[in-house]
Amino acid sequence: MKELRIDSFGPPNEVVRLVEVDEPTPGPGQLLIALEAAPINPSDLLMVRGVYGVRPDLPARLGAEGVGRVVGVGEGVDPSRVGERVIVLPSLRQYTWVERTVADERDVITVDGDADPLQLSMIAVNPITAHLILTGYAELKADSWVAQNSANSAVGRYLVDLARLAGLRTINIVRREEAAEALRADGVPNVLVSGPDLVKDVRAILGGEQLGLFVDALGGSQAGELTGLLRPGSSIVAYSALTGEPFSMPFMQLIFRDISLRGFWLNQWMNAAPRTEVDSAFSYLAGLVADGSLSAPVEATFGLDEYEEAIRRAGRFRRAGKILFTF
Ligand SMILES: NC(=O)c1ccc[n+]([C@@H]2O[C@H](COP(=O)([O-])OP(=O)(O)OC[C@H]3O[C@@H](n4cnc5c(N)ncnc54)[C@H](OP(=O)(O)O)[C@@H]3O)[C@@H](O)[C@H]2O)c1
Repeated sequence: MKELRIDSFGPPNEVVRLVEVDEPTPGPGQLLIALEAAPINPSDLLMVRGVYGVRPDLPARLGAEGVGRVVGVGEGVDPSRVGERVIVLPSLRQYTWVERTVADERDVITVDGDADPLQLSMIAVNPITAHLILTGYAELKADSWVAQNSANSAVGRYLVDLARLAGLRTINIVRREEAAEALRADGVPNVLVSGPDLVKDVRAILGGEQLGLFVDALGGSQAGELTGLLRPGSSIVAYSALTGEPFSMPFMQLIFRDISLRGFWLNQWMNAAPRTEVDSAFSYLAGLVADGSLSAPVEATFGLDEYEEAIRRAGRFRRAGKILFTF
């Protein structure tokens, strides 16, 4: 069978290779999974470059999440699990850019057998990030305001849907008009394109109310410039630094209005959260994906043997949606 791997860290278009390997055998407590779909996330490409928060041993297999069917079980696993559809969690103990993978039972969640596999394959990284940020950093009563940048990213799209389901109101900032139009066409409210009038534009939407939370994917100065619109004692949650610039915030806001900057990294939650919390969060999200309440646009799908084009497209900015492998 085919799998993608790296023997050294570096630019994805130079170091990722397609190799032919034997099908793995599930060990005790493990499942053999035939992958149906697996996305290429920015974190996968950071991992390939060797600049992610964890570095795998080399040679390394790739792909942190995906969906597939159980086609075999190891010792101690109920054989009736064969045929179940499961999502693979991003514990990084197994890999998904491969036709078949083995995973411990604790590293998968059973999901709806009939739902869209492309949408199911993307649950375990970005929707959970949006869900944990929305629920973990502020007491947000119904109608509270949440603002975010990079709102056209997958995380941003999920955050809009999850906030709406929780009765929250969102302000959604993007960096280009084309992305704003796409969001508005999908019914996303309060979409703004960043520019010199951003603070004035956000203030106009708030109409005298204050933000309960700001969700930042950019770093640099944008979130800091908006801190005057946050409720005293509230937080900015940073989950990425797409501009590559250090975060800056006026110290007056930090001191006199007790605005905090918090960082979020999914790996920390994956490693620390009790199993019951992990189960209930992913089952909640899988239910929303299955009933169509939660989705993210897909720009294109590719087979594993088209990996060069898939990785090139995933590494490009100004995309219309995610790039996925299908099997
Ligand atoms: N901390 C965590 O645990 C965690 C979890 C999940 C995701 N993330 C991170 O969250 C970010 C979004 O992930 P995703 O999968 O949702 O992304 P995605 O759907 O692939 O979209 C990428 C987003 O990044 C924007 N972007 C790229 N380069 C930029 C730049 N230089 N300046 C401003 N915006 C830029 C794009 O804007 P355009 O469309 O305008 O190019 C787009 O909105 C990634 O950096 C990812 O690594 C972190």
